[in-house]
Amino acid sequence: MSPTAGHGSNRVFSDMTDQIETRYVEGASDDVPTNDSGNTPFAVVAERALSRRFFLGGSAALAASTALVGSVGAAVFAKNAEAASIGTLTFESLPHGYDDTHHVAKGYDASVLIRWGDAVVKGAPAFDPKKQSAAAQLQQFGYNNDFIGFTPLPFGSANPARGLLCINHEYVDRELMFPDAADRSPKTQSKEMVDVEMAAHGHTVIEIVRDAAGKWSVVADSPMNRRIHVGTEIAISGPAAGHDRLKTSADATGKKVLGTVNNCAGSITPWGTVLMAEENFNNYFAGDIGKTREARAYKRLGVAGDVGYGWYRFHDRFDVEKEPNEANRFGWMVEFDPYDPTSVPVKRTALGRFKHEGAHALVDKSGHVVCYSGDDQQFDYVYKFVSKGKFDPKKREANFGILDEGTLHVARFNDDKTLDWLPIVFGEGPLTPANDFHSQADVMIEARRAADLLGATPMDRPEDIEPNLVTGVVYAVMTNNTKRKKDQTNGVNPRAANQHGHIVEMIPPGGRGADKDHTATKFTWDLFLLGGDPTKPEQGAKYHPAVGAGDWLSCPDNVAVDGKGRLWIATDGAPKAGIADGVWAADTEGDGRALVKLFFSTPRGAELCGPSFNSDDSAYFAAIQHPGDEKGSTFDTPSTRWPDFEPDMPPRPSVMVITKQGGGAIG
Ligand code: FEO
Ligand code: CA
Ligand code: CA
Repeated sequence: MSPTAGHGSNRVFSDMTDQIETRYVEGASDDVPTNDSGNTPFAVVAERALSRRFFLGGSAALAASTALVGSVGAAVFAKNAEAASIGTLTFESLPHGYDDTHHVAKGYDASVLIRWGDAVVKGAPAFDPKKQSAAAQLQQFGYNNDFIGFTPLPFGSANPARGLLCINHEYVDRELMFPDAADRSPKTQSKEMVDVEMAAHGHTVIEIVRDAAGKWSVVADSPMNRRIHVGTEIAISGPAAGHDRLKTSADATGKKVLGTVNNCAGSITPWGTVLMAEENFNNYFAGDIGKTREARAYKRLGVAGDVGYGWYRFHDRFDVEKEPNEANRFGWMVEFDPYDPTSVPVKRTALGRFKHEGAHALVDKSGHVVCYSGDDQQFDYVYKFVSKGKFDPKKREANFGILDEGTLHVARFNDDKTLDWLPIVFGEGPLTPANDFHSQADVMIEARRAADLLGATPMDRPEDIEPNLVTGVVYAVMTNNTKRKKDQTNGVNPRAANQHGHIVEMIPPGGRGADKDHTATKFTWDLFLLGGDPTKPEQGAKYHPAVGAGDWLSCPDNVAVDGKGRLWIATDGAPKAGIADGVWAADTEGDGRALVKLFFSTPRGAELCGPSFNSDDSAYFAAIQHPGDEKGSTFDTPSTRWPDFEPDMPPRPSVMVITKQGGGAIG
């Protein structure tokens, strides 16, 4: 089968819920909450919080006839035909399914741009999965591509046909990656395999170009191509830089660290740098946290609680008993300049330390930079940072340190649909020595505990927090939270045992788009959709009334906003609901508001990450992460050999580029 196998082959239409069992997802530790702060402000019944806008968004006739979307069964099917004519999206929604390859909407082409093991830097050896080495992997595309950001070349242009593609490598899937089963346990894996894993993490920058025929490719040997990995030297800046809690035997300054891990989502900043998150960094550390001075802080973050990697056996810094402060140097947002392949990445401690899913910066109308970020764990929080300085539109480099000084805030969602942004500032409120905070460094290192004390609202796994620059509304995506109990529900997290996730709108005061005030400490909020099957009322799903049995989604995760202000919603975990992960698109306002349509679906076992557009929305980049990651699926007997489908080739995480046949904007 070709990597560009198109629409409609071998779809499995049956409900496969019972047959689909994912083995391991990167967010496994997202399912082990560590927040015992008891913050459950304003618990109320779910229905009170549901927006009138759910029901007013559709055409008048639909709105009038379907007050509760989930209760109409056959009527919903009938609406599918009507749905095709509502809103601005013109593609025909794909059917649900679950099989060994990807699918894209009719009229579009999807092709593989780069796969795990493909050459990145000049001189990279050919990929041989049976003879992997760290030396080779350092020059090749890493594993489990996640965030993707496109930024045009040259900087400052809006060139849609040439640019840098910046891609995170979040983690590795050992069973699918290595042929030797002995290397698949952290307790027995060899140093060689550990070092391959460290080389397969981090980030890739590639120069990409579209030819006259519309075909995208990687510019081989471009001097812009780059790998960042666990051995890359990274600076630490902001209020925690140089603090004693960040000093180690290898770094007496507390301002330098080797590498970055579990880089999940991210963004391109308005000044053309990359923000990459450090998410589940806790799983890379081992040892008894009780033997460190950081036991309380490490417990709140789950450090060394669920050890997923054998790195500590060969690299002492990952053993908290040997290097007790090293874990304090992870869990930050990392920024670097992709336009300079020699630039030193920087961990920006003013953005706080937690399990950053990603971060997204914008320039507010006041000139201050506002950066939104989610902490992806059950019952953790949504944050925003407001810079002290103002953006300099004339001198790019003047903005490189703008994320070092400012105020981090955490969100409290009130049931009257207002949202308070609570400043996380040393000396204010409970953030004093009485609670063992002695500086702003302490507050940033333990941002979660500070947020607990401030009374932030525990959320259902905050993933991407992404502003819609067209409307000015900020989308906060909650993937799921099956651990939320009935008495823990509230307006903004209205479902107990929330399997399917939901999307929240955070609405700054002001007019539309750039007229909104993102620096304000008081927003309002709304619910955009609640995932799940709308034909099963017990699930409590909510969408546009015309969303039917074949259109719904589950576990929204990363999102992208296109130039028309539409939301592209990638999912992580939909197979648990019997359907493949993929990307759904929806209008955010007007007649088609929350009318989700399936645009692309992944091969079995995969999640869909990093959706990103080029500068005129004529190319859509999708990261297919962990294809074949299912129970019993291994390097030798994988459940799919996507995308190569060669007998000796394991499945390979890959970036795809999707274009419209004949060209033009997607959607
Ligand atoms: Fe790495 Fe929260 O997804
Ligand atoms: Ca994500
Ligand atoms: Ca994710």
